[in-house]
Parts: sequence; C-alpha cells; structure tokens
Amino acid sequence: MLNASSSPDSGAAFDPKQFLRVDELEAVAYERMTTMAADYYRSGAWGEHTLQWNLDAWEEIRIFHRALVDVSRRKTAVTLLGSKSAFPFIIAPTALHKLAHPDGELASMRAASSRGVPLILSSLSSTGVEEVCAVAKHADVWMQLYIGKERAHVLDLSARAQAAGCRALVLTVDTPVWGVRERDIRNGFCIPAGIQAVNLMRSGAAGGPTGHTGAGLGEALGWAIDASLSWKDLEWLIAKQSLPILVKGVCRVDDALRAVDAGAQGIIVSNHGGRQLDGAPATAESLPAIAAAVRDRACVIVDGGIRRGVDVLRALALGAHAASAGRPILWGLGAGGEAGVARALELLETEFDLAMALAGCATLEDISPDLLRG
Ligand SMILES: Cc1cc2nc3c(=O)[nH]c(=O)nc-3n(C[C@H](O)[C@H](O)[C@H](O)COP(=O)(O)O)c2cc1C
Repeated sequence: MLNASSSPDSGAAFDPKQFLRVDELEAVAYERMTTMAADYYRSGAWGEHTLQWNLDAWEEIRIFHRALVDVSRRKTAVTLLGSKSAFPFIIAPTALHKLAHPDGELASMRAASSRGVPLILSSLSSTGVEEVCAVAKHADVWMQLYIGKERAHVLDLSARAQAAGCRALVLTVDTPVWGVRERDIRNGFCIPAGIQAVNLMRSGAAGGPTGHTGAGLGEALGWAIDASLSWKDLEWLIAKQSLPILVKGVCRVDDALRAVDAGAQGIIVSNHGGRQLDGAPATAESLPAIAAAVRDRACVIVDGGIRRGVDVLRALALGAHAASAGRPILWGLGAGGEAGVARALELLETEFDLAMALAGCATLEDISPDLLRG
C-alpha cells in the first residue's frame, strides 16, 4: 500500500522504488495538491468519455509476440527531428507545473535531461523558456505554441524559444475554444497568486492570465487562443520560422495530409488528453490511418492515455515514431518533484525495453504492424 503521508511536505524523502507503475504516482500526487490543482490535472471535457476511451483503446490492443528471437541486445534510442531520446518518447506539453510542485518545469526538465528524454514546454508554463532551456543539458526542448487573437505574440515567443535553444515548435490546433471541464467550473478554477503563465506575460500579452475571477480556465486563459484560427495561420507561421513545426491535435487523415503539404514536419495525433471535444476518438483509433498517410514524410507522435511502456510499443506498431504523455509526468512531479518525474520516465522506459524483449523485438524497426495481427 502506498504511503501518501511520506510526502516532501511532511518531511519524509520520496522513495522512487515505492512506485512500481506510473499510475501509483497519481494517488500520492493528488493527495499532495489542492483539490483545485488535482481536478485541473485529472479532468476531461464534459462527460469525460474521450478521456476514458484513450485509456481503454491501448489496453484492447493485443500483441502477437514473436518467439525464438535473440533479444539479448536491444536498442531503444531514437532521434526525432534531430532530437535524441533514450526511448521513443517525448514529454507532452502541460500548463503550469508549479501547480503540481514548487520547483515546476525546472524539476521536470532536470529529470528529462537526466533520463535523456526531450520535453515539449507548454506556452502556458509557469517557468520561462530561457530558464527551462538553461537546465536542459542532455535533452532537447521543443516549444508548444497557441496562436491568440494578437498574432504577433506567437512570433515573439517562437523567436525567444529559438534563441533559448529550442529545437522545434509545436502548434496546438485542437483549441479554437477551451473544452468545458466541469470540475474546474465547480471549483472556480483560478491560477493561484504567485504562479503565472510567464512566457505570455513577458510577451506583453494584453490582460495576462492571472485569472483570479474563479470562472474557470476560459476566463483565466481565454485570450490566449482564438476561434478564428485557420489553415492560413499555419501557413503564415511556417513561412516565418526556420525551426521544424509540428501540428498537435489532429485526428483526421485529411488534416494530417494538409498540414504536411503546408510544410509541417510532424503531426502529433492527440485529443488534448480528452480535455477538448468529448466524443473525439481515442488516439489509438486515429493513429493507424494518419501514420500510414504521412509517416514517410513527417514525424508522427501520439499522446493520450499512454500509461505503460507497452503502450509505447503498441503506438509504434500502429505506425507512430514515438509516443508522448502528459498526466504521468505531472503525477511524478506532484509526488516527488524532480525525482518523481525521473521515476515516471524510468518506469516507462524500463517497461518499454522489457516489452520489446517479450514481443521478440531487438530494434525499433522490428516493432512492425504484424505484431498486432499474428
Ligand atoms: C493539466 C494538463 C494541461 C495541459 N496543457 C496543455 C498545454 O498547455 N498545451 C498543449 O498543447 N496541450 C496541453 N495538454 C495536453 C497534453 O499535451 C497532452 O495532449 C495530454 O496530456 C495527453 O494525454 P495524457 O494526459 O493522457 O497523457 C494538457 C493536458 C493536461 C492534462
């Protein structure tokens, strides 16, 4: 049984070995946070169906493992658009890490760096992109962007990200408006005093996400996005950038093809962790057709419900180059700061490596679609 009382707050050290899978970090993390923060992290939109489907869809995929393959030496490392990762995984962008732990994004990045796994920094991070890049010694940072009503702000932030050393930009496109997360409304979600979405504040964005009114995320951060966003804006952003751009939040083949035709170098198949359109398909369901259409021309990453290393193997067998996760990293952060994030990454990597061995795969190329057919 996990001991939630052994929290850093209560003075006891975080014992990583106490946690045998990432979802064991979840309960401890949520006990250590305010209800408002825990609910902000756990919630999906409306009835939370897509949130649940994301999880269920991975579990339903059976793996027809190969027998009698020499798997004594395995290679898990991968390079994604020039960024190396110890295994086919990148940390998904999630807002406001200081809600989970006072060390916030610096703890997440230090852990990512120590494990050799890149991190996508949210544009709504509570630590500035320059400070995060400064602690990224052994892993790259990619910068996630929203485009708000004042278009020029995205150029400021992407220029800052590039100057700070980010290696790619990720434009999130599944947020014309914020999905309705009912828990946040009930809790009167607001960003606590002392925590700010600092990247946007420094860009001089009008108003700024102080969001103390208690009317939920739409009120706190509504100005950061824009319902009129269209393909023209993607083309405009691509034309203005020299860094590779990935488009995040795609679930349709036609959209993936159009984004790649427009010059995007990567697609992140995502439904925002079930936080936007409730009713959107599970990402494991959207992935195969998108991967088949664009994986030879673009980097394909999938997120949503990845909770075990074996889910990363499933994602690769469905055609992704890598998988990504948001909440498991926040759970690590909430439960144990830097050590907690490092433990979450260690668990996912170790499980992935063992899943490869058990499936009869020595290299990433061996993780082919026939594993799912037998
Ligand atoms: C608390 C939270 C905050 C998030 N913030 C952002 C964000 O700022 N930008 C973004 O593109 N996606 C954001 N996402 C979506 C994640 O990048 C990712 O798509 C999602 O977490 C994947 O699902 P998972 O949590 O089941 O792994 C957020 C997700 C959560 C749970």
